[in-house]
Amino acid sequence: MHILHVVGARPNFMKAAPVVRALQRRKGVKQVLVHTGQHYDANMSDVFFQQLGIPAPDVNLAVGSGSHARQTAEIMGRFEPVLLQVKPDLVLVYGDVNSTAAAALVCAKLLIKVGHVEAGLRSFDRAMPEEINRLVTDQLSDLLFTPSQDGNQNLAREGIPPEKIHFVGNVMIDTLVQLLPAAIHVGKNGQVGRYALVTLHRPSNVDDPRVLKRILESLLAVTEDLAVVFPVHPRTRQRIAEFGIKVDQLRLLDPLPYVEFLAWQRSAAGVITDSGGIQEETTYLQVPCLTLRENTERPITITQGTNVLIGHDMEKLRNELAKILAGHAKKGSVPPRWDGHASERIADVLVGNLE
Ligand code: UD1
Repeated sequence: MHILHVVGARPNFMKAAPVVRALQRRKGVKQVLVHTGQHYDANMSDVFFQQLGIPAPDVNLAVGSGSHARQTAEIMGRFEPVLLQVKPDLVLVYGDVNSTAAAALVCAKLLIKVGHVEAGLRSFDRAMPEEINRLVTDQLSDLLFTPSQDGNQNLAREGIPPEKIHFVGNVMIDTLVQLLPAAIHVGKNGQVGRYALVTLHRPSNVDDPRVLKRILESLLAVTEDLAVVFPVHPRTRQRIAEFGIKVDQLRLLDPLPYVEFLAWQRSAAGVITDSGGIQEETTYLQVPCLTLRENTERPITITQGTNVLIGHDMEKLRNELAKILAGHAKKGSVPPRWDGHASERIADVLVGNLE
């Protein structure tokens, strides 16, 4: 069996790592890893490969940044000859970034099978670039690996045949479970006192000066009650500088490696974020999560987990933070099959289908 993995952006790396490892444990599986180069800063990419123990990519397409059309087109153009040369039995794509949809499209046109890890998630908001990537990728995939049952329901509604859909659980949690002991160790030397951990990078939150300013002002108000620790995504750092916003009272950090971020996350009083994956990680860690988005493609983190949607309602943010500080944060439980074994289930399905 010959599998080619495509990764490109930071959230792909923690999803691919356990799948690569699970397949390494199976006999007779050849694997090739392609990095599109969508994320290229060392602290957005290389450091994750090291910490997560992912083998160095066999091929780096080095596409870099660009508009959505340009970035997607560059990935497609550069990936096609690689695929024609490698001729794998199946290509695995991860999550919902531009690299995911671009690679799936190339495979579909060359009649090479695609497996989508983290299939079926829907925010039902097509203004979100990731939603377009999810819809396209799932339509083109031959094997769809879902993290939660809502994914199965969404795919069934869109007419995907049930035999293609496999509810395997959450591969991000595989990585979390594996590296939690390392994070606990790192945390022993670092995090003290109560703090809120913040991440922010969605275009809808950071590209409009008025929106970004309002959010950052609300975060500055939070510092009256507790420290705010904010590892800043490169896009957000550029915007803060561009718009000349003053954020001296926030503790700004460069993007953190996986283990260090996990250490900050597990000990936080609460997490304020617009990320997808962090909504899931906080649910697993049972840390309160306040999501600065109007919707989520991960509804299980709300129905079952610790997540609360805040949208752009800064008063709600203040109220929810007050609840956390008063010890009345939302409690949750860990969803089914978020147990550290999702990638083994994927390996089982691949072996069953391709051998
Ligand atoms: C991408 C994903 C998003 C994911 C996020 C995680 C898409 C559509 N979006 O968004 O779903 O949550 O990654 O980080 O694929 N930049 C750097 N260095 C880098 C990478 C990016 O400076 O290594 C800067 C560039 O100015 C670039 C901007 O960040 O233009 C945005 O990068 P891009 O990959 O287009 O999207 P993200 O916002 O990171």
